[in-house]
Amino acid sequence: TAGDQQSDFDATIAADGRIEPRDWMPDRYRATLIRQIAQHAHSEIIGMQPEGNWLTRAPSLERKSILLAKVQDEAGHGLYLYAAAETLGMSRDEMLDLLHSGGQKYSSIFNYPTLTWADNGAIGWLVDGAAIVNQVPLCRASYGPYARAMIRICKEESFHQRQGFSILLALARGTDEQKAMAQDAVNRWWWPSLMMFGPPDGESPNSADSMAWGIKRFSNDELRQRFVDMTVPQAEILGITLPDPELRWDEESGHYAFGALDWSEFKRVLRGDGPNNAERVRRRKAAHDDGAWVREAATAYAAKQAARMEQ
Ligand code: 3HC
Repeated sequence: TAGDQQSDFDATIAADGRIEPRDWMPDRYRATLIRQIAQHAHSEIIGMQPEGNWLTRAPSLERKSILLAKVQDEAGHGLYLYAAAETLGMSRDEMLDLLHSGGQKYSSIFNYPTLTWADNGAIGWLVDGAAIVNQVPLCRASYGPYARAMIRICKEESFHQRQGFSILLALARGTDEQKAMAQDAVNRWWWPSLMMFGPPDGESPNSADSMAWGIKRFSNDELRQRFVDMTVPQAEILGITLPDPELRWDEESGHYAFGALDWSEFKRVLRGDGPNNAERVRRRKAAHDDGAWVREAATAYAAKQAARMEQ
């Protein structure tokens, strides 16, 4: 009965077990997972654009091949995540249509421009650093296909974070101009990186359910604090200043205290009014349209193979 199904589901969640695609699940659990996993997948593929912008201008062959590998990894992450979301019953075509029409979101962070080479360092260090803090707990998310996809993604994100740190370290040890370029990039990416963790706990409508269902393991503010605590000592090693005059070690709480985020900026970017929203969506749609012939050819080939198998 429906009651038995609900109590089996509740028992699995209470025992910290995994829900698998063929298991019964509440409609709202399914809907919130599709929402979060699709948004995550979209972020991975939109996230290829800001750094893709620098592939032809990387300062050495080594940096270029590393950046190329990194951008390709993001495409792979998108694919694992779309595949995980498809197990919940929404097709990839439908998710991409929703991305293109604005019906599903992608992360706010990818609506900011990459103005100099140092931005690739700041993205790796801060954006991928924040992604790891947010995503490591998702390896224990209650939905099996999502949790399993996150394991490999997190391993690759660690490599991305280190390559970003390495770019900034080289610049920070360079000429005055290079140091200034690194500092400027960090000044621009710091606050948007903190916004990646989502709205403050008191204004996070999805958190209560997602925590109860074992999708989220820590709140938005807890993870944001963890990221700040982890990053400040790394900034000291780089000799780069984080652009927050209120940032200080707080003996009493055992954490770094930091200044208030500009949530009106966050809301603006979510509404589509960030510096690069229109450009990101336009390029994504153009890439999709340009790839139509590949999808058509693959479908025709698959149909031919299937027909041959039937003979
Ligand atoms: N950008 C865009 N939208 C955001 C956001 C952000 N930074 N933070 C929150 N939101 C949206 C939520 O999606 C939600 O809107 P919706 O109900 O229409 O979906 C609304 O703001 C309210 O936020 P909540 O806190 O209630 O939402 P969640 O419980 O879903 O928490 C989250 C937000 C912490 C981002 C969570 O969804 C999550 O952990 N997602 C998985 C991680 C992810 O998507 N990361 C993407 C960026 S990192 C990345 O792509 C890797 C890089 O290397 C490319």
